Amino acid sequence: MKKTWMITGTSTGFGRSLATYLAQQPDINLVATARHTADLTYLDQYNRGQILKQSLDVTQPEQIERAVGSAMEQFQRVDVLVNNAGIGYFGSFEESDLLDAKQVFDVNVWGLVNMTRTVLPVMRHQGTGTIVNFSSIGGLYSFPTLAFYHGSKYAVEGISETIAKEVQNLGIKVMLVEPSGFRTDWAGRSSHKMLPTHSDYAPLKQFIEDNEKGAHHEPGDPDRAARIIYDQVMNHQATLPLRLPLGKFAVDTAIEKYSQMEQLFQANYDLSVSADQREK
Ligand SMILES: NC(=O)c1ccc[n+]([C@@H]2O[C@H](COP(=O)([O-])OP(=O)(O)OC[C@H]3O[C@@H](n4cnc5c(N)ncnc54)[C@H](OP(=O)(O)O)[C@@H]3O)[C@@H](O)[C@H]2O)c1
Repeated sequence: MKKTWMITGTSTGFGRSLATYLAQQPDINLVATARHTADLTYLDQYNRGQILKQSLDVTQPEQIERAVGSAMEQFQRVDVLVNNAGIGYFGSFEESDLLDAKQVFDVNVWGLVNMTRTVLPVMRHQGTGTIVNFSSIGGLYSFPTLAFYHGSKYAVEGISETIAKEVQNLGIKVMLVEPSGFRTDWAGRSSHKMLPTHSDYAPLKQFIEDNEKGAHHEPGDPDRAARIIYDQVMNHQATLPLRLPLGKFAVDTAIEKYSQMEQLFQANYDLSVSADQREK
């Protein structure tokens, strides 16, 4: 049976790489969504009737309903949902614009939540499905100037871990993808930069400028990531990892953070346990 994949944010970056790869595979139906379907003409050369292009801003719940409805009408199922759409925001915690910070959560967290809650009933009815949620190494480890991006991706991690536990007996799997730097538009046009003005935060300015300069020169190749994600979902369903760091920096940083956390918890083990004792 053909598998139907639905992806958010396929205009550029990971979403585009994944859509391009899926469009060339046999036995795959693709629902490619983007805020502007005019950005999806790159798919036309592969379309043999197996591709549905849908306009979808993930912050607009009625557009989510419409897109999922159209996907069901055309293909009668959604086997794989890829919550890929996401934006960044650089700025000191103190000087960040909270409306911009809220927008990061609207796209990265609430967009993913609403997409998932709309597709989950379909998957439950099918008795099968895979949800691929784009987190980041920034969902496990934090840098200066990215407080709100990290907050959004840590939220994606926590929410996804819970969903995975709730649906594990319903034939539905969840995989968090945690990339380090990849050559997409993320560090460029998709991340608003608020340069700190206060002299106390001057060193942070350099960090933000360096990130902007590094955009499109990151080590990670989104086309390679697309193949890895496809292969995991299609060929390794039984052992699908809940967390998949992508890129050497991502996996090394995750290992280092978790071993340091383990050391910290062990070092304070008796103190932590003592909190269960009744205070006299
Ligand atoms: N690249 C990296 O180094 C990296 C590392 C870790 C995690 N990630 C994550 O990877 C995911 C994909 O980003 P990317 O790296 O591929 O960057 P990208 O090339 O900038 O792609 C971001 C995509 O999200 C879409 N988008 C933004 N706001 C949207 C909204 N409200 N509704 C629907 N789509 C929206 C963009 O559409 P428009 O063209 O309309 O703006 C674009 O298609 C994100 O979740 C990001 O946080 C990236």
